[in-house]
Amino acid sequence: MSGPAWGDGTRSVRAGELPAVPGAPLRPSPVFAAPFHLADQPPRAGGADAYARTEQPTLRNFEAAVGELDRGRCLSFATGMAALTAVVMACAGAGDRVLLPADGYYTTRLLAAEELSRFGVEVGYVATLDIERVAAEGGLDGVRLVLLETPSNPQLDVCDIAAVARAARASGAVVAVDNTTATPLGQRPLGLGAHLTVASDTKALTGHSDLLLGHVSTADDELFARLQSWRNHSGSTPGPFEAWLGHRSMSTLDLRLARQGANAAEVAEVLAASPAVRGVRWPWRPEDPSFALASRQMLRPNGVVSAELVDEAAVGRFLAASRLWTAATSFGGVHSTVDRRAQWGGDAVAPGFVRFSCGIEDTDDLVADLSAALDALS
Ligand SMILES: Cc1ncc(COP(=O)(O)O)c(C=O)c1O
Repeated sequence: MSGPAWGDGTRSVRAGELPAVPGAPLRPSPVFAAPFHLADQPPRAGGADAYARTEQPTLRNFEAAVGELDRGRCLSFATGMAALTAVVMACAGAGDRVLLPADGYYTTRLLAAEELSRFGVEVGYVATLDIERVAAEGGLDGVRLVLLETPSNPQLDVCDIAAVARAARASGAVVAVDNTTATPLGQRPLGLGAHLTVASDTKALTGHSDLLLGHVSTADDELFARLQSWRNHSGSTPGPFEAWLGHRSMSTLDLRLARQGANAAEVAEVLAASPAVRGVRWPWRPEDPSFALASRQMLRPNGVVSAELVDEAAVGRFLAASRLWTAATSFGGVHSTVDRRAQWGGDAVAPGFVRFSCGIEDTDDLVADLSAALDALS
């Protein structure tokens, strides 16, 4: 169910909703089943569910909701990496050339280097800030799939999805956008010309740091069918409880993003004013190099800020002095977290580079705690 003029809060709650049934819960309870009673011959001829790896009602409701926010048809996956794997495996094969972001989520590069290469997929890497120029200079000729990640994780660079999509469509390449950081409320890649939008829903979409999920949405029926086959054959389907929790969690996406964005605006300023910090990045800060493009392309801010402390020891001292900034990887959750990215070995960042993920704590509390912890560094 959806109304064309509904705002983000309404759509977060109502997307994918079924017509009301008197006496039934407002949101259907999860249906826990692997096989279902079979009746139809051949199986599923009458539309009844048969086996939950391919389809099940709780997943359908969740996918309808996410697809409505993305403005496409959604397929949900067990993790974000399962969704990204599906994109590459469904769109490219032996001998195909794929372009990935050189500065995006590092496990995507590991997937390429350690798995795709074994299947004969040729992989090239382009930095987020360079892809528009490469596309304009004909660098997408002969490319089967180009994956963008904007804003990129963790350095928060932004590229022009519409410009790359125009060039890609002219040269016959499929464009997928990793939309994890922005979320479907913060950016709609399908409306900007991308064929696929893909995300880790482990992050802000579900936002409570207690779920692993991912999804791909598309408005292209042929790509949808290929992705669905991949998921059915590879078995990377989420279970009903995850799907139900994901659907329940996304009801508050608008509220959580609003608080996270408001917190990030303050946090970015406090970081920028501190002598212990340099290189603050938040695409919605007017001083940020991504500001102009982010304001044009994106729909709203989010809670991820990156910055550099002096070194690894400074990050340790910061964490020891803070009560509200918790050391944890991942981002987009209700807790405010700090991740020193160099510890994972996958990103080309300095030892003191940190990704701050602003949670939904009170802004005053978060800023007071941040200021006190930064003061402990001087
Ligand atoms: C931008 C981005 N894409 C994909 C993923 C992978 O998601 P998952 O951990 O749910 O597999 C992550 C995880 O951090 C991410 O940050």
